[in-house]
Amino acid sequence: MSRVALVTGANSGLGLVTARRFAKAGYRVAGTYRSQRPDGDNEILWVRADVTDADSLDSAFTEVEDTLGKVEILVSNAGMIRDTLFLRMSEADFTDILDVNLVGAFRAAKRAVRNMMRARWGRIIFVSSVAGRTGQVGQANYAASKAGLIGMARSIAREFASRGITVNVVAPGPFPSSLMSTVDDEQQAQLTGMVPLGRFGEVDEIAATIEFVASDDAGYMTGAVIAVDGGLGMGA
Ligand SMILES: NC(=O)c1ccc[n+]([C@@H]2O[C@H](COP(=O)([O-])OP(=O)(O)OC[C@H]3O[C@@H](n4cnc5c(N)ncnc54)[C@H](OP(=O)(O)O)[C@@H]3O)[C@@H](O)[C@H]2O)c1
Repeated sequence: MSRVALVTGANSGLGLVTARRFAKAGYRVAGTYRSQRPDGDNEILWVRADVTDADSLDSAFTEVEDTLGKVEILVSNAGMIRDTLFLRMSEADFTDILDVNLVGAFRAAKRAVRNMMRARWGRIIFVSSVAGRTGQVGQANYAASKAGLIGMARSIAREFASRGITVNVVAPGPFPSSLMSTVDDEQQAQLTGMVPLGRFGEVDEIAATIEFVASDDAGYMTGAVIAVDGGLGMGA
């Protein structure tokens, strides 16, 4: 039987492309949406979840378990930005972003890991960002949340290694998405200029890496931070 994968924040951008790749590769795939379920993509089981709400995540997992089976691969991808300079950043700007990007990932991993322990097999993949490694002007909240994922991943990678569960972080550089479209054109051009490969990533290039980390071939990889960023974060 094919493995069961659950991708959070799968209704757009990287999450959607990742869920589609898993489906194409023959996995049984579920994707969470918060606002709106995409039209089509009927090979994906769509479940509603807000990662800031543990009960909503619990219901989503239960629906996936009842329909597809226990989640063996978790891609914690849901995320958001609220960029502003530090002096203007309110406490809510900071804690709201932490609650989605970091605590949301904690909630999803916590719900997933118990069944993975029983099965003695699991893959947890956190989607971080180059900003979590290098920092970024206007992104103290976002960078802190994405850096936090690295510390969390490496801690639980150590805790669950003996149970056959790997925990890794994929840290993308900039790629086009609805999240990126909130960054103005001038800033996007500036960002492109900083990328050694001289361009934004393609969503599929990031999703392909996630697919590899989820595969049996990546069985000897845990606690890794895999940069897919055109070289933007190298050395950090
Ligand atoms: N685009 C980039 O340049 C870039 C670079 C590095 C890392 N990333 C990371 O890549 C991941 C995917 O982002 P994307 O660029 O593909 O942007 P996106 O298209 O805006 O996708 C973000 C997803 O997260 C979901 N989400 C946000 N808040 C949520 C919540 N409270 N509960 C559940 N789901 C929630 C969104 O759902 P709704 O649409 O329903 O709100 C959406 O599905 C994020 O973790 C982001 O930080 C992106």
